[in-house]
Amino acid sequence: MDSWWSQAQRLLADGRARVDAALERWLPATSELPVRVHESMRYSTLAPGKRLRPVLALAVCETMGGREESILPSACALEMIHAFSLIHDDLPAMDDDDLRRGRPTNHVRFGEATAILAGDALCSLAFEVIAVHTPDPSAVADLVRELAVAVGTQGMIGGQIMDLENEGQPPRLDLVREIHRRKTAALLRAACRLGARAADASSADTAALSRFGEALGLAFQITDDILDETSTAAELGKGTKKDLERGKLTWPACVGLDASRQAASDHVEEAVLAIRHIDNSGSLESLARFVVSRNT
Ligand code: IPE
Ligand code: IPE
Ligand code: MG
Ligand code: MG
Ligand code: MG
Repeated sequence: MDSWWSQAQRLLADGRARVDAALERWLPATSELPVRVHESMRYSTLAPGKRLRPVLALAVCETMGGREESILPSACALEMIHAFSLIHDDLPAMDDDDLRRGRPTNHVRFGEATAILAGDALCSLAFEVIAVHTPDPSAVADLVRELAVAVGTQGMIGGQIMDLENEGQPPRLDLVREIHRRKTAALLRAACRLGARAADASSADTAALSRFGEALGLAFQITDDILDETSTAAELGKGTKKDLERGKLTWPACVGLDASRQAASDHVEEAVLAIRHIDNSGSLESLARFVVSRNT
């Protein structure tokens, strides 16, 4: 196996263990009232996922010489926002999916009202965790602002509404690129920028890491679109062959599978090139290459 593959697997496994231990502590206990929404929040957030966003934030912070305590709250916040986006993405009003991370989706298990409120509560908790647990209080405002912009209408939420509004429209690559940039790349870019801020990186390095995060984010969503067509629910832990059925604007719908694979690979090369001069350990490159080679 290629060495970058084992390096990425190691980073993902180590990072996941540290992030999950912190999430375990910072998510409300199921013994606390109101019990059902706490169960629902933990059900989706702690379910087996790749933890790519927090692992990326940890890897960037470490690469830039920062301490893990400085980024761990933001890393957990990224995963909480991601879990919130997945719970809402699966709702009947959105993609209407019944399988996620190998389990029944949140609304199937807990009902729609609880799923909506668990997503809302995860969004709020994400910012609380940054504010309460970040060791350097002077970094909090920057971390919160960065994440807030990535979640809002210029970022994930904006991309999600554009994704829904354009169902059934004729495929257009410029539009798909804009949807993917917002709904997915914004949060991956934010993971890199939070890691950079937690490590007090220079503005030049932060700009390079932003380019890395955005290109990697596009590669990630293009790969997600490809896997929807080519993989199985057993492999992915979520429903497949759904995008075509719902008339989603995807990269393959615009240019086909082969050109999509090429585009994903081109975006990874662009990502790697942006940070080659700062990626001393090769961690960031290994995670970028993982993003397009994964089958989960
Ligand atoms: C799925 O994200 C949603 C997208 C943005 C495409 P992931 O593929 O990172 O999902 P998990 O966290 O591993 O479940
Ligand atoms: C979702 O994109 C992006 C999010 C912000 C959650 P998809 O709708 O393609 O994600 P999956 O395929 O359901 O995981
Ligand atoms: Mg969706
Ligand atoms: Mg979906
Ligand atoms: Mg998808």
